[in-house]
Amino acid sequence: MIEARGITRTYQTYGAFTGARTVHALRGVDFTLPDGGAVSFIGESGCGKTTLGKILTGLESFDGGELVVDGVELSGLKPHQRAKYFRRIQMIHQDPYSALNPTRTIASILGDPLRMRAKETGADATTRRERAAELLTLVGLEPDAVLPKYPHQLSGGQRQRVVVARALTVDPTVLIADEAVSMIDVSMRLGILSLLRDLRARLGISLVFITHDVATARYVGDDGELHVIYRGEVVERGLTDEVILAPVHPYTQCLLSAVPIMRGLEEPGPDRTAPTAALDERAVTPGCLFQPRCPFAQDQCAEKHPVLVPLGDGAGDGSGAGDGAGFAGGEASEHLHACFYPEARRVVGVEVGAASA
Ligand SMILES: Nc1ncnc2c1ncn2[C@@H]1O[C@H](COP(=O)(O)OP(=O)(O)O)[C@@H](O)[C@H]1O
Ligand SMILES: [Mg+2]
Repeated sequence: MIEARGITRTYQTYGAFTGARTVHALRGVDFTLPDGGAVSFIGESGCGKTTLGKILTGLESFDGGELVVDGVELSGLKPHQRAKYFRRIQMIHQDPYSALNPTRTIASILGDPLRMRAKETGADATTRRERAAELLTLVGLEPDAVLPKYPHQLSGGQRQRVVVARALTVDPTVLIADEAVSMIDVSMRLGILSLLRDLRARLGISLVFITHDVATARYVGDDGELHVIYRGEVVERGLTDEVILAPVHPYTQCLLSAVPIMRGLEEPGPDRTAPTAALDERAVTPGCLFQPRCPFAQDQCAEKHPVLVPLGDGAGDGSGAGDGAGFAGGEASEHLHACFYPEARRVVGVEVGAASA
């Protein structure tokens, strides 16, 4: 089980033209991932999704908040102690082309981590070879055909399956899939998504599913929670279907309208939203982060910052909700939103691409 409380990550950057800038990649992200469960994060490019994935796998540090894995708060641990917890959390990256060493065969790509693992399991060479074959079968590949090949001899979809098999060599408890199908040919996406669903069901692995695409989040994380991130902040969360079918935050509504979910997986719609990264951090008002682009913003949206509150608790100003309501004990699945004007709306054809004011 993973519990993230108030995870914050800030980067100081310096650009020749932009000067010194502070980038708030994540602003207080809270979530609970139960054993065998799924939680999805959705948001446009630059909203902090990969940063979150890297933090959860120990590839990136964070500067605020707590990360609790199987009951142990990790920031208090020394790096080598922490590594033990992160090893069972594996990340599937976006790009299966750069994830595999092009000069090594699949047998050797899977053999290395299995040999490392053998220090614990004591598996001999024959057992390891059998395990490699077993893992390839599990991810839907034909071991005899694939083991002697090099990555370039495989399709993108096959490569991503090898990446998944490699992640499975350490018997992970959690898989983090970061835009795992976005660079794969559309015809093969559904297969990879079903594989991820399957692994959850068959191996009891829990899944953090990161995407910019509503349809894939719905497909993979349908029984889990969906968190909608805007500029590093979760602005709406709840059961996946509840958020997708009855979104109340204008940003979620814009996301849904930009990528029509009815189109189906084979044909994702063009992403019409402007990347978050294109927005200037300095243009942020003290109010709602989405306010400069929000078609429904009113005066107070520019002045006060709405926090996540349960739906039906009135304005998203924290009043009546208590501090951090909805996170107590990780009681998940309440529909929460950070908007002063939560409302069921249909956003049809609204262009939200008008970048920073
Ligand atoms: N190492 C880094 N140094 C500086 N800024 C970074 C770094 N990594 C990410 N960022 C910034 O943090 C924000 C979130 O990035 P990222 O997590 O990659 O978003 P996403 O995966 O949602 O596209 C972006 O504005 C990005 O430019
Ligand atoms: Mg990313």
